[in-house]
Amino acid sequence: MKIIGPFTQLLPLSQMPLKGALKDEDLVIIDHGGIVSENGKILKVGEFNQLKNEFPDAQVEQIQGNAVAIPGLIDSHTHICFGGTRAKDFAMRNAGKSYLDIAREGGGIWSTVLNTRKATQEELVQGIVERANYLLSLGITTVEVKSGYGLSVAEELKMLRAIKEANNLTKQKLITTCLAAHTLPKDFEGNHAQYLKLIENELFPVLVEENLTQRMDAFIEEEAFDEKVTLPYFEKGKELGFQITVHADQFSTGGSEVAVKVGAVSADHLEASTQKEVEMLANSATVATALPGATLGLGCAFTPARALLDAGACLAIASDWNPGSGPQGNLLSQASILATFQKLSNAEVLAGITFRAAHALREQNIGKLAEGFEANFAMFETDNYQEITYQQGRLMPSAVFVKGEIVF
Ligand code: NIG
Ligand code: FE
Repeated sequence: MKIIGPFTQLLPLSQMPLKGALKDEDLVIIDHGGIVSENGKILKVGEFNQLKNEFPDAQVEQIQGNAVAIPGLIDSHTHICFGGTRAKDFAMRNAGKSYLDIAREGGGIWSTVLNTRKATQEELVQGIVERANYLLSLGITTVEVKSGYGLSVAEELKMLRAIKEANNLTKQKLITTCLAAHTLPKDFEGNHAQYLKLIENELFPVLVEENLTQRMDAFIEEEAFDEKVTLPYFEKGKELGFQITVHADQFSTGGSEVAVKVGAVSADHLEASTQKEVEMLANSATVATALPGATLGLGCAFTPARALLDAGACLAIASDWNPGSGPQGNLLSQASILATFQKLSNAEVLAGITFRAAHALREQNIGKLAEGFEANFAMFETDNYQEITYQQGRLMPSAVFVKGEIVF
């Protein structure tokens, strides 16, 4: 058992609602705080000196100087398993071509598929580990990672196995999602429905057998999959016990409606959502996930985060780190920028990258600093938590703990 502290400010984020708008006054701030942990779990959070009295036998891990502690951040939507780069797409977009035009002309997702297929499983593992290490330096202690650049049974398996293998090599936890329904592979002879059938029949059984993932995703969009084909695909996944998440309303609406209909854990993107979709999501159990990294990568609208929160939605914020639409990867910076454009409080930003993101992954014991939760937290060298978003990512953690152990 050990006590870690004192922290100038400790923000447990433990007594906050899962849905709706939040004010900074709602944040509980423990001055001179401490965390008691045992076997990787939190026993108690409180005032440092009181904890020392209460647990006299605990070993004390003393923190020197100013430190603000917050729960380990959670990036609930990434595509950090990929080969190659799409710097050319970025330049083409900035020269006037649209994301969908570039995809039609052989760039886009398909070019990353070709590069990912060229990579060995070991090379993919290496890439994931490198990117995950960068995320760890931002205080991110849980990362969701999607497949979706394999787009054949064998190549999707290679990706998912690589993510699983990388999970054993990274300090933080990686959560896999099967995104075989990312786009119709150009080398598949058949239509969208036939491709999804192949995935259901030949990939799904292996996912279950090798315990490769419990989550599935689909990109619902004009250039990808429509509502009609994804509904039965999701129903099939649900029968196998998969959680559903959706790439929804990125360029046109429709995806979020499917997400709500199938009881998806989250609907992500939502840049094109109108008030109708906002209210539908707010009245559902589906988490609305904003991906400001994709807005910054593509130069399009931000997700209507303010409207979603005001309508009562559970808003998570994730990086969508991928080589195409979201190459930057810095969740802390992106969430802070989203705050300036959508007028989000610090409490809403912090909730969106901690316990609300945990809910998007339906993870029960991460994202808060409370008894029974994993002792995952990030420490910033400052005396005021507001500096974190204010500095828009420049203030990086001075230390990161996973399961009570310092990992960065
Ligand atoms: O979340 N929109 C679909 N999928 C990814 C982008 C993938 C890519 O462009 O490589 C996204 O933005
Ligand atoms: Fe994505």
